[in-house]
Amino acid sequence: MSKSKKSWEKRLSGQPDKLTIDFVESLSIDKRLYKYDIAGSIAHSQMLAEQKLITKVEFKQIKNGLLEIETEIAEGRFKFTKKLEDIHMAIEAALISKIGQAGKKLHTGRSRNDQVATDIRLWMRDEIETLQDKIILLQRAFVEMAGKHTKDLMPAFTHLQRAGPIVIAAYLLSFVEQLERDFVRLGNCSFLLNVSPLGSGAVAGSTLPLDRKSTAKQLGFSGISRNSIDAVGDRDFCAEFIFDCALIATHLSRLAEDWIIYSSSEFGFVSVDDSFCTSSSMMPQKRNPDVLELVRAKTGSLYGSLMAMLTILKAQPTGYNRDLQEDKVHVFAAADTITASLDIVAAIVLHTKFNTEKISAGLEEGFLDATALAEYLVGKGIAFRQAHGIVGSLVAYCERCGKKLAQLGADEFKKYSPAITKDVKKHLGSKNVVGKYATDGAGGTRQAKKQIAYWKSKWQRL
Ligand code: ARG
Repeated sequence: MSKSKKSWEKRLSGQPDKLTIDFVESLSIDKRLYKYDIAGSIAHSQMLAEQKLITKVEFKQIKNGLLEIETEIAEGRFKFTKKLEDIHMAIEAALISKIGQAGKKLHTGRSRNDQVATDIRLWMRDEIETLQDKIILLQRAFVEMAGKHTKDLMPAFTHLQRAGPIVIAAYLLSFVEQLERDFVRLGNCSFLLNVSPLGSGAVAGSTLPLDRKSTAKQLGFSGISRNSIDAVGDRDFCAEFIFDCALIATHLSRLAEDWIIYSSSEFGFVSVDDSFCTSSSMMPQKRNPDVLELVRAKTGSLYGSLMAMLTILKAQPTGYNRDLQEDKVHVFAAADTITASLDIVAAIVLHTKFNTEKISAGLEEGFLDATALAEYLVGKGIAFRQAHGIVGSLVAYCERCGKKLAQLGADEFKKYSPAITKDVKKHLGSKNVVGKYATDGAGGTRQAKKQIAYWKSKWQRL
């Protein structure tokens, strides 16, 4: 057996096929875990020293060697060789060639299986914080924009048909709510993943007296995993993380879709700044919302990652399987895609204008005050179902004669219901309706201002 063989290759005869080397390597993907791998190794070796499994001197050598490697990688001086398969092997091999014998003790009581499970958890914990910061930035952009439009009106849509009048702020604040759930969901994911698998070994633990609580504490985990078999095979948090990213993408796609529609000449509700639009190579008049279209499309990549992750996990035999290495491809792709989308959407929100004049010019189209009129009749003691029918007939009548509800005279109203009297005027027209919204969370100025105050005070407390 050749002396140049790596320890883990001694079991096998001959060298791996060239195709195998390329096929099994994950270094090209997992090298971005290097900082976490080194942090995990330092914690592990400190614990080995505490447990007298290595000497203090050996621990110092290991730690200093690892820190040097960290700097080399950070500065781009580290030579990655894919034959070493992954970031764990690459760092360990570099350590051994740097410090010799002590380096060979680093992997005592450890497997790449518990090592990689630790690394991804550490990486994801940080990544979630970064994403949460980005979510807050975007929420703030919406709240700031909402603050400018607490009195300006727009139609709220259901089925993309005009439904009822609201202030623009209320519409914008609806996205802050979606993003808040995304924020909390990511926090939940972080909470669940924050247990240390280190010390679980390959699958069954170790016969050495490892102090798992020590490494967990050093790495900032809230505790240790209870079951080594589950700990090395668990990637639930990866699926959950990608789902959380996919749902953020879903929310962003709804905004994108709205603003693609709203910025069309047919709507003209918003103007997305030129710096976030592109033109056509053929049609000189075009100003296309390509950035928003791509935000919408990225949802597909996120769903793809989620589907891939779930499928990787499906029906895997209990314990660690190499399938799990493929998790990082999708977890990183999801994180990168959603990061780019959150960044650009925040910039777009800060540079988009609502064309309030254009919106108000068409505001009385579509009988936005019809529901309020039915509720006016409820106030006059008429059962809602009946009121609904009366207003339905009135709307049909208005359509026939090309009038709005607010333009009808007392006689015309009387024909449909004697309960409608002069005071009805105060209940018709979008502005009046919005002023009368009484329920918490409704689309009026008062409710929007309350929400803005809520968000501002919440962030002040952060
Ligand atoms: N690169 C591998 C991964 O990401 C490390 C674990 C390899 N373990 C093994 N028993 N082959 O999962």
